[in-house]
Amino acid sequence: MRILLLLMILMSISTSYANTVDKLAEMPIIPKPFSVVSGNGSFKLSDKSEICLPTYNIEVSKIGAFLREKLRPATGFMLPIVESADKNGKNNIYLVLSHTNSVLGDEGYQLTIGPSRIEISANKPAGLFNGVQTLRQLFSAKIEASTHQVDSWVIPAGVIRDFPEYSYRGFMLDVARHFFSVSDVKHYIDLASMYKLNVFHIHLSDDQGWRIEIKKWPELTATGGKSQVGGGSAGFYTQEQYRDIVSYAAIRNITVIPEIDLPGHTNAMLASYAQLNCDNKAKKLYTGTEVGFSTLCTSKESTYSFIEDVLKEISAMTPGGYFHIGGDESHVTKLEDYIPFVNRMQGIVAKLGKHVIGWDEIALSDLKPNSFVQYWGKAENAVLGVQKGAKVIMSPAMYAYLDMKYDSLTTFGLNWAGYLDVQKSYDWIPESIVPGIKRENILGVEAPIWTESISTMKNIEYMAFPRIIGIAEVGWCSSSRRTWSEYKLRLAKQGDRLKVLGVNYYPSKQIAW
Ligand code: ACM
Repeated sequence: MRILLLLMILMSISTSYANTVDKLAEMPIIPKPFSVVSGNGSFKLSDKSEICLPTYNIEVSKIGAFLREKLRPATGFMLPIVESADKNGKNNIYLVLSHTNSVLGDEGYQLTIGPSRIEISANKPAGLFNGVQTLRQLFSAKIEASTHQVDSWVIPAGVIRDFPEYSYRGFMLDVARHFFSVSDVKHYIDLASMYKLNVFHIHLSDDQGWRIEIKKWPELTATGGKSQVGGGSAGFYTQEQYRDIVSYAAIRNITVIPEIDLPGHTNAMLASYAQLNCDNKAKKLYTGTEVGFSTLCTSKESTYSFIEDVLKEISAMTPGGYFHIGGDESHVTKLEDYIPFVNRMQGIVAKLGKHVIGWDEIALSDLKPNSFVQYWGKAENAVLGVQKGAKVIMSPAMYAYLDMKYDSLTTFGLNWAGYLDVQKSYDWIPESIVPGIKRENILGVEAPIWTESISTMKNIEYMAFPRIIGIAEVGWCSSSRRTWSEYKLRLAKQGDRLKVLGVNYYPSKQIAW
């Protein structure tokens, strides 16, 4: 009798648990999905659940393993991964490639949650990955803990159909002004991938440092890798480490775009090899924060073969289709030298089988078809790029630069583009901020973070979070389906998740955390 009573009490606790789960349509998912329809009941993950891959391939198996590893620490469940079409199992999660839903495109997914099964279906592995990231957000925030937690692991039933507005949703880290370790870089990639950002632009060279091993030109790292802003020990990535970052990102549906900033922002190169200077004298290493004082010697043929060697080695390690050539703030390169230089860079990159991306100044050159202009500073450059047939990546500094201070009290970061509070970084519309740049001219959005004043990953987190989450939604969700007043309520609910993850986010007063 006592056992029966205990059982009844336990059952009532577990049903009330299930009943307290919000409806699926009320879940605070970011970025906001295209459509969410609530169903009846809920799904409970248990130690008997399996991750089933009826359309097994190597990429899908990596996504299955990713999901298992994300669910394991908090739940303690070591979910088996089964290459099986068995649909009779109970409380399993199915990852299915179906190639049947053209509306979902390359990155969309359908996530169907029933009382006894979850199915994520997509045309491509990228879509399955995005569905997995949505699924993580449906569990309680405790799911993100690195240690075992007590929870019901119940999520509400229903159907989510989702796909992105823009195919390019980027974030950039400047590892040149301050160097960041491989594990820091991976950490940032992992956090960004939670919000379905899919491009990691890594700013590998600048006046203050050179960060990537080039076998043919070892002084670039032996000399140029030694410095950073403020002095201190810096560093660089070996080719093996760079490849490791690229594959870590690839598992998370993130394409790496390397940037070698040319022909300005090149003091670290000019210090490493005297012959890159017109006077054949190596520059001194630079640890300050001025910009616009350096240039490669554009009149020497040897400069071009050097650059070709460098770009070739980096391209060979980079499966993504883009190479970023910088091109910004080349104030000491004469325009009559800058234009032919950028033209030749586009030829070199095309020969390597990649498309060029450059900061908006490259619009002054003769843009090749399939070169892309990244708008950061001058709207007229970006418009010129569009007039020359290029698509634009929108990174307007006043809305998207995560190194801008939140307000006058922020103790690091810069403010040359103004203060950038959480609302401002969300509440902009890529297709309406520059007259002459319309929806069809835009490839996507990117949130850069420059590190003149930021030297630790904790401080990167503080500047990036929560603003990067908002920019991820700007890229994913069409402007007609989102408002700040509704978004800020969902963002508030991300606070617990960020806390459990240990992210040092800025607790903005604009959000009711
Ligand atoms: C830039 O902020 N100089 C692209």
